[in-house]
Amino acid sequence: MTFRIRKAVFPVAGLGTRFLPATKTVPKEMLPVVDKPLIQYAVDEAIEAGCDTLVFVTNRYKHSVADYFDKAYELEQKLEKSGKSELLSLIRDVLPRHVRAVFVTQAEALGLGHAVLCARPVVGDEPFAVLLPDDLIWNTGHGALRQMAELAERESASVIAVQDVPREQTGSYGIVATRDFSGRHGEISAIVEKPKPEVAPSNLAVVGRYVLSGGIFDRLAKTRPGAGGEIQLTDGIAALMEKERVLAYRFEGRRFDCGSRIGLVEATMQFALDHEDLAEPTREFMRAALAR
Ligand code: G1P
Repeated sequence: MTFRIRKAVFPVAGLGTRFLPATKTVPKEMLPVVDKPLIQYAVDEAIEAGCDTLVFVTNRYKHSVADYFDKAYELEQKLEKSGKSELLSLIRDVLPRHVRAVFVTQAEALGLGHAVLCARPVVGDEPFAVLLPDDLIWNTGHGALRQMAELAERESASVIAVQDVPREQTGSYGIVATRDFSGRHGEISAIVEKPKPEVAPSNLAVVGRYVLSGGIFDRLAKTRPGAGGEIQLTDGIAALMEKERVLAYRFEGRRFDCGSRIGLVEATMQFALDHEDLAEPTREFMRAALAR
């Protein structure tokens, strides 16, 4: 089996309660970091990794995600007429021409594993990526998913992004135990969803980037509700590991947890520093704000 990925799944059906009242009408994936919504960063990362089919798993409250990737006829015409070609390419380039977006609905919020299973009719049984847009990964080199895609191809195995977290935080993540870590990757020997620190097999936490073999779908179809009463992707992966190798990969880059308010604030500052026109004013503001 070749492990080249062409399809990326974006589960975007969560409620985003940590950002209420903003998320009363704006899905959390549409919250901006500087001038792009979170979902756009994840989409760009998937395209850089070679994906040309993007599968958004949404619910009935998330029309704005589909609207965002749709053509904005009136706005485009207006900008075209007034010769604003730079702005025009900004809104046209949200998706390059060779990339297509597919939307599937998750009718009930039954968990991340269930959301991924909803993408099965589009993905089929080939290897694919899953990106959780609220994990925003900043990088100066290749994106995290591209690094993972290369490893998956080289090793012909599923790959899951991990990072070390303080032990007291294991209850917020999927946690893995690994055999032989060499360089940045190692084979996963156990994976548990949100274990308490006392029983966590390590402090190596799953970050929202996965390259998975199509075999995961059969496992997810049989997965019963687990942690939090939800059908967990983690449990599907644990079942997959009985038959196939799954690797943990410590990616290069810095992850911002934009599912939390402080994560979104930190990411905004980090990404502002990458914009030529914003870097200096941002630095100046931070210095002055800290001196007050
Ligand atoms: C999900 C996964 C968890 C993973 C985390 C990464 O949890 O279930 O295994 O560690 O994403 O962000 P959530 O944050 O959606 O509760």
